[in-house]
Amino acid sequence: MPPRVPAPTAVVTGGASGIGLATTTRLLDDGWSVVVGDLNAEAGARALDAAADAGRADRLAVVPCDVTEESDVEALVATAVERFGGLTCMVNNAGVPGAFGAVEETEVDDWDYTFAVLVRGVFLGTKHAVRAFGTTGGGAIVNVASIAGLSGGGGPVAYSAAKAAVISITKSTAVELAPRRVRVNAVAPGPVLTPILGDGEARLARAAETLRTTQPWPDPGMPEDVAAAIAFLAGPDARFISGDTLIVDGGQTASGPAEAMNRLADPRARGIAGVSRGSTGQAGELRRVSS
Ligand SMILES: NC(=O)c1ccc[n+]([C@@H]2O[C@H](COP(=O)([O-])OP(=O)(O)OC[C@H]3O[C@@H](n4cnc5c(N)ncnc54)[C@H](O)[C@@H]3O)[C@@H](O)[C@H]2O)c1
Repeated sequence: MPPRVPAPTAVVTGGASGIGLATTTRLLDDGWSVVVGDLNAEAGARALDAAADAGRADRLAVVPCDVTEESDVEALVATAVERFGGLTCMVNNAGVPGAFGAVEETEVDDWDYTFAVLVRGVFLGTKHAVRAFGTTGGGAIVNVASIAGLSGGGGPVAYSAAKAAVISITKSTAVELAPRRVRVNAVAPGPVLTPILGDGEARLARAAETLRTTQPWPDPGMPEDVAAAIAFLAGPDARFISGDTLIVDGGQTASGPAEAMNRLADPRARGIAGVSRGSTGQAGELRRVSS
């Protein structure tokens, strides 16, 4: 009998919802083992149930994790090594909308929270993945950025700045880690129908309708569309690709994103500010401000 080759293993942060969940499902479909780290325990339990229904629970671990906490991220990577024998790819995906509203109404704590999740989380995921790769030789990292990090009109100031930082981290670490055969790439999605766009079917249906008229591609982006790009960058077909940011937006960047994002829900025009903690299960805050 030929020796059993262990399945490649990925860690997916924020893997219990939206793009992260679609990536987890896609990688499981492709034969990977996956460790999901997510702050939302209920969503994590649902992901585990779905994997069990599909007969794949043995290749999925769900670990409660806050990507802003170094010990949590370290434990996440350790789970991949201990349970599945190593780490092949780190998907730094966890995210929240973070601080929104006019820049002069943005609280420092909300700004720092946004950067902690979106930037410190990517740094910590990278740091501990690289340590794990050190023991196995080579690996891949895929960071989930956003087209908001590419222009001035795609999102709130803190979110856009944080996503620009993710694109920058992707380039610098790709250069630093190439000699060790670690590839680092990012995907930059446009608006994609996930809970991050707002709670509830009606909200997503409205977003879908808006996107049909404000982006070149007639269908709205789905989490599976981004998962396919992540799976490509994670796998061997991308073996000579590093330092790239792959735009996945139905042509929106080519046409300019500002109009669509503003029509979705510009809080500045609505005279509100605050912070959204996304689908973490934690309460956000909303303030009315004079416009
Ligand atoms: N959906 C879009 O339109 C869109 C567009 C561009 C980029 N993105 C990016 O894609 C990524 C995934 O977003 P999504 O749309 O799937 O959203 P989502 O809300 O469906 O999923 C995000 C997941 O991240 C988890 N999370 C948040 N903070 C965390 C933390 N501190 N530690 C661990 N887990 C945490 C949440 O619990 C949730 O399960 C994010 O980085 C987001 O910024 C999304």
